[in-house]
Amino acid sequence: MQSDSVQIPYDINAIRADFPILAEEHHPGVPLVYLDSGATSQKPLTVIKALNRYYREYNANVHRGIHKLSEEASAVYEGARIKLKKFINAASKREVIFTRGTTEGINLVAQTWGRSQLKAGDVILSTQMEHHANIVPWQLIAEQTGAAMRYVPILPDGTLDMEAYIVMLHDLPVKMVAVTYVSNVLGTVNPIVEMARMAHDAGALMLVDAAQASPHLKVDVQALDADFLAFSGHKMCGPTGSGVLYGKQALLNTMPPWMGGGDMISKVTFEGSSWNELPLKFEAGTPLIAEQIGLGYAVDYLNAVGMENIHAHEQAIISYALDRLVELPFITVYGPTVEKKGAVAAFSMQGVHAHDVAQVLDSQGIAVRAGHHCAQPLHGLLGVSATARASFYLYNTTQEVDALINGLYVVKKTFAV
Ligand SMILES: Cc1ncc(COP(=O)(O)O)c(C=O)c1O
Repeated sequence: MQSDSVQIPYDINAIRADFPILAEEHHPGVPLVYLDSGATSQKPLTVIKALNRYYREYNANVHRGIHKLSEEASAVYEGARIKLKKFINAASKREVIFTRGTTEGINLVAQTWGRSQLKAGDVILSTQMEHHANIVPWQLIAEQTGAAMRYVPILPDGTLDMEAYIVMLHDLPVKMVAVTYVSNVLGTVNPIVEMARMAHDAGALMLVDAAQASPHLKVDVQALDADFLAFSGHKMCGPTGSGVLYGKQALLNTMPPWMGGGDMISKVTFEGSSWNELPLKFEAGTPLIAEQIGLGYAVDYLNAVGMENIHAHEQAIISYALDRLVELPFITVYGPTVEKKGAVAAFSMQGVHAHDVAQVLDSQGIAVRAGHHCAQPLHGLLGVSATARASFYLYNTTQEVDALINGLYVVKKTFAV
């Protein structure tokens, strides 16, 4: 498959065949319709095989042993870092810190940059559409430093109120803008380039939560000019426990370490310690070796399909899904229209709790998520405690959207609403 050019036709059958789980029955005789990739994606065979091969053929700790196995494990592990560097167009592999995922990456920045730089009166500016992972770490550090949190409001169409953002940047002593690239509920794709420029003009840094962006869009950290950017491997065809925090090297160099232990030191005495160079300064202890290697293979897979192709396919699917959902007068879909939206549709059904919607869909083989999707404050604004969410990825089809629509009619009938 070609990368970086639109592949026509998109060979959906070949892609689906790469994901063994998609051929499984969800219940006896009922095929799986997996519409929960926003929570975690399925994994292609190449990634599954890579994990297997690591454990069967070269399992060893990295950066430590002199023996051949350790050298091989270290080379493949560091090779994965280079793949990730290229994937996000970082200037150096030193800027690619391996983490367990987005949550860990944001906590790392809050606890190292935040603890050393924030003081009473400073403002951390987040938004009303954030996942808890981009709220709670900042609340914790705000409590510890005396800094305050503010949130950019959203407009009725589910986009950010950019006028309010400009005013807040102007009026408040903002030190950090922490914003999601793509909302995991509304699907809103935020204007990160513009927001980063405005943040920098106001003297603030920007952290981008790219958990729902890196699986779907070409993420170029230099073009975005993000100071930090965090994402999770498990949402982009990689294993759970894999992920990346990108940070500009000059900033990472000024930040103290977060966790202490093996690998992150250059020298330890009983009196004190000094730190290893980047990125190891932020990678204490034995890392998730197999997982990050697996993420490298996931990136190979995504590159082979082509991020542009994936994005174009998903836009077609979400566009079709929104058109079909509008046919159902008993369904409310949240978030902006398709031009400003990623491949996620959160919705509620009149008179039926989201958990009941998900349960009846599950009985028909359709996996969607129900709840507040770790965005409780946003759900409060939407006036609902929970929504059901269908999230799509490179392997979904319009037939699966049809299955969802038919499934929703069954839900309606079941609850006689
Ligand atoms: C927008 C967003 N941010 C952060 C996260 C947290 O990701 P993880 O649990 O992989 O750390 C998620 C996960 O759903 C998300 O959707």
